[in-house]
Amino acid sequence: MLEYINRKYKPKPNDLVAEYRVEPNRISIEKACEHIAGESSIGTWTTIATMNEKIAAKLKPNVYSIDKKTKEVKIAYPAQLFEAGNMPQIYSAIAGNIFGMKAVKGLRLQDISFPKSILDKFSGPKFGIKGIRKLLRVKKRPLVGTIVKPKVGLNEKQHAQVAYESWLGGLDVVKDDENLTSMSFNNFEKRIKQTLKLRDKAENETGEKKIYMPNVTAETSEMLERAKFVKKQGGEYIMIDIITCGWSGLQTLRDANLGMVIHAHRAMHGAFTENPKHGISMLTIAKTSRLIGVDQIHVGAILGKMKGGEEEVVAIGEEIEEKIIQPDKEDHVLAQKWHNIKPVLAVCSGGLEPSKIPELVKAMGNDIVMQFGGGCHGHPDGTFSGAKAIRQALDAAMQKIPLSEYAEYHSELKKALKKWK
Ligand code: 3PG
Ligand code: MG
Repeated sequence: MLEYINRKYKPKPNDLVAEYRVEPNRISIEKACEHIAGESSIGTWTTIATMNEKIAAKLKPNVYSIDKKTKEVKIAYPAQLFEAGNMPQIYSAIAGNIFGMKAVKGLRLQDISFPKSILDKFSGPKFGIKGIRKLLRVKKRPLVGTIVKPKVGLNEKQHAQVAYESWLGGLDVVKDDENLTSMSFNNFEKRIKQTLKLRDKAENETGEKKIYMPNVTAETSEMLERAKFVKKQGGEYIMIDIITCGWSGLQTLRDANLGMVIHAHRAMHGAFTENPKHGISMLTIAKTSRLIGVDQIHVGAILGKMKGGEEEVVAIGEEIEEKIIQPDKEDHVLAQKWHNIKPVLAVCSGGLEPSKIPELVKAMGNDIVMQFGGGCHGHPDGTFSGAKAIRQALDAAMQKIPLSEYAEYHSELKKALKKWK
């Protein structure tokens, strides 16, 4: 077998670097690393007659760091191993067979550092944070929104009405839920038409820009048709479930360059992001999504119903927003220069209600979208009052007024705090 461990190796600017946490299965960590490096690049389980020195010299990765205590391992892969603009191929290599090998009890891909040669082949976000703020005409404050609830169940007319009341109450954004697409009782085209019509009405009545994010998640060619339909109806945003659609679907949607903001929902990520000893980190997923070109992505809500603590969510927020990422051993973050790839807006959602706003803004800063499903439609007086309470809590947080004080003269917020705080 080839020898891949080379502790003296210094990654070249064109290498792709991956950090793994390796739990060997009854073999030494070095041996496990040999298997991982080989299987994710040019090798297999035994020596082969078809390998030659030329191939090895050009394409052999280098395992240049092994921390026996933490089990963290860094591997530098030469860029020629990858088809630079093909994210499925990149993942088939460095996040492919290796997860199922008997050589490892557990394996986690913690982060990938992409070289410029790969970065150059992807578009990144079309709008990014600045473009979204310009579209919404909101300069500084966080954006607030809702997800129509029940997740599925309302017909087109009821859906549009819930959206309308949410906008009227003061929310910027209304989105479909991750499992709402085109249902027997709620047809995609009818829903989009009716909801966008009420968006226009809400804009006229409030004087504010209002956003509707229809979920175009479907088989790839159907998804493109749905996205084009949204555009034709005057939509400015689309949402996609990036994990269930896959990198290929996301790349196709981004590369279609339809001129609409792309919102990324991460449903199903927990199947492989949550076990600290196996799978792929959410940071890696968020970073890959930025590279392909989502404009905003769910990162966790810290205080809500979904897992993901402050440190992790803040690190993901930085990874998708900053231009240069400094390495951070504690949080398993590798160095990354983002060059021309724009910053992505972080979306906090899942189990949020108005009382969480000040703390969330303190942790994440103003460049976020906060979304409230149950925390809007669960208000004792319904959606309109729920939306008002959210906007009131945001206004209070922006003016640094304690919510309990602001609630004294804002009855919707008062009722919301009584129910949830
Ligand atoms: C989402 O898709 O983010 C969830 O539907 C959030 O809903 P919740 O606020 O009711 O948890
Ligand atoms: Mg949802």
